[in-house]
Parts: sequence; structure tokens; C-alpha cells
Amino acid sequence: MWVLGIETSCDETAVGVVGPEGVVSDVIHSQDMHAEYGGVVPELASRAHAEKLVVSVRAALDQAGLKRPDAVAATAGPGLVGAVLVGLCHGKALSAAWGLPFVGVNHLEAHLLSPLLDRPAPRFPFLSLVVSGGHTALYLARGLGDYEVLGQTIDDAAGEAYDKVARLLGLGYPGGPAVDRLAGMGDPDVIPLPRPRPRLELPPTQRRGLTLARSELDWSFSGLKTAVQAAAHREPAPRPEDLCASFQEAVVDVLCDRVVKAARHTGVRQICIGGGVAANGRLRQRIAGLGLEAFIPPRARCTDNGAMIANVGRLRLLAGQPDPLSMTARAGWPPGERTPA
Ligand code: KG4
Ligand code: ZN
Repeated sequence: MWVLGIETSCDETAVGVVGPEGVVSDVIHSQDMHAEYGGVVPELASRAHAEKLVVSVRAALDQAGLKRPDAVAATAGPGLVGAVLVGLCHGKALSAAWGLPFVGVNHLEAHLLSPLLDRPAPRFPFLSLVVSGGHTALYLARGLGDYEVLGQTIDDAAGEAYDKVARLLGLGYPGGPAVDRLAGMGDPDVIPLPRPRPRLELPPTQRRGLTLARSELDWSFSGLKTAVQAAAHREPAPRPEDLCASFQEAVVDVLCDRVVKAARHTGVRQICIGGGVAANGRLRQRIAGLGLEAFIPPRARCTDNGAMIANVGRLRLLAGQPDPLSMTARAGWPPGERTPA
């Protein structure tokens, strides 16, 4: 079965095709017009998706050598809901016009399961660290659709912290790759930065409309960002390279700390990473060195892409779980929760 996957939840218009042997095409158009605003402008993102989708679908099918796929999948959330709607409606329209099954995919589930596209692939149950611009969470994946949140950020996502530090240092948007590059030229030991942990004695937090109980596997990144800000204004001014290296080491330290604890608590020793921050060189190196069985997707499969959406669509169809075309977009959506039609 060949599945076309459409991803438009943020600022990448991405379309991929996945077949029995894995990824056969993966077309990505990154929107660069947001850089001058220092962040993604939702309305501009939606319009650009609408402009690029037809050519991207055509290019993905051409690359795969297909006239049409056997099924269509599209991101249905979470994300910028206007942007999600553009890709979702496009996917549903293709499915209706071609008379093909449709799956509305959870973007986080797509990051979580993207290591299944590579060989060797992890086997359930495995741990999956999803670190992106909007989300940072550690899941125990027991099977398709069966994910337990072991820990999550109580404030900023890791990618958001990268982007905010980049803005502070005037490195542009998105900031992750720029901070990653500068950090490689700096010394992480020159500027001491905290390794923040959530205070378990405090009451549950509210985030994105959800009440979250605190866990020792949670993260907090907003204090770290403030510490970087304070260090940047110190005299004499620190070298941006050292600031980036120290910030990055602190982020990677706390990410790895929770992974090691989760492996100890659950006894599960397979760890996967996904999401844009999983493209980070230092995180990839440290996760690989934890003494666990690490599954690290190629960088292009960590940042948003269409193949990861096609992957979940294909797995859901093989499990006999298509979605009705009445399915709508969801701005917030925990992975694993089946959406009402
Ligand atoms: O998964 P993704 O492409 O989009 C979302 O679903 O959010 O992640 C984007 C995030 C941005 O915050 C970006 O700065 C960060 O991933 N990122 C990185 C790197 N490449 C992208 N962060 C650290 N190091 C990188 N090399
Ligand atoms: Zn993403």
C-alpha cells in the first residue's frame, strides 16, 4: 500500500509517499517569509501552504513514480489550526476525488513513530522523546495508538527556548540550527547555567487548557532562557559561541537526565528521538552515548516532513483504522486519543 502524506501544521509544506519498502518520496518547502517577523505568522503560513500544495503533491507523486496513491493521510493537528486546515482539506479533497481511504494524522504521533521508517527499527514498547518548537514530551509507546506521557515541559518547549535564545542573540528565526552551529565553536564550561527542574511540591500546572500533574520526569525551560538573558547582559560580555554552548549543554543535560530516569523506571531500554530539536548535533551524540539502544532518525526526518505523516497513515490503515472525511482539525490533541468524527 502506497500512502501519500501531507503536512502543513506550521511553516513547512511537506508531502511524502511511503510504501511497503519505506519512504519513496519526501518533498519539503520551507517558508522563509517568517524570518523577518521573528516567528511564524499564522495567516501567511496558511496562504503559502495553499499556494504550494498542488505542486508539492504532484512532485511527491512524480518522485515516487505514481499516478495516484492507494490512500491519503494529512496532519489534522496539533498545530496552527488555519495552517492545519489547509492541508487537511486538501487531503480530504484528494481522497474524495480519487475515492481513496483517508487518515487524519496526529502530528506528535508522526514524530513519535518516525523512527519506524528506518532500519533497524525499534520494537514496541519503546521510549520516544519528542522535542520540537511547540512540544517537548517523553512517551512510553506500547503499541500503535497506545502512548503514555512520562514527562513533559511545564512551560516552554525545548525548540521554543532555542528560538528565544537565538532572538536574544540576534541570530534570526528559526534559531535552533543557528544556536547549534555557534555552540559547536564555543566552550560549554565558561558560563555556568542552571539545570532547572519542576518543583514537585507545587500544585498541578495549567498549560494549553490541560491540567498537568507534576512529575520528576517533567522539564522547565523558561528559567534557563532567563538565565541566558542575564548572562548575556553581564560585563564583560560573554562570547555568543560560549553562551550558545552553555545553553545547549544545559538543554541536552536535562533532556538526557529524564531519558535515563525513564529507562530506569520503566525498564524499557529502546529510546527514539523526533521533532526539530532531534536534529541537534549534540543531543544526537549524547542520546547515542547513554548506553541505551538509541534510534536516531536522519535529520530531515526529525524536522517536519510528509513521510512521517504517510507513515502513520499507512500503519493506521493496515490496522483497519481509516478516518471519516467529516474529521476536522484540532489545535490541541494528545497523541493516541482517537478524535470524534
Ligand atoms: O518539529 P519541528 O520542525 O516543528 C514543530 O513541530 O515545531 O521543530 C521546529 C523546532 C524549532 O524550534 C527549531 O528551532 C528547532 O526545532 N530546531 C533545532 C535544530 N533544528 C531545528 N533546535 C536545535 N538544534 C537544531 N539543529
Ligand atoms: Zn513537528
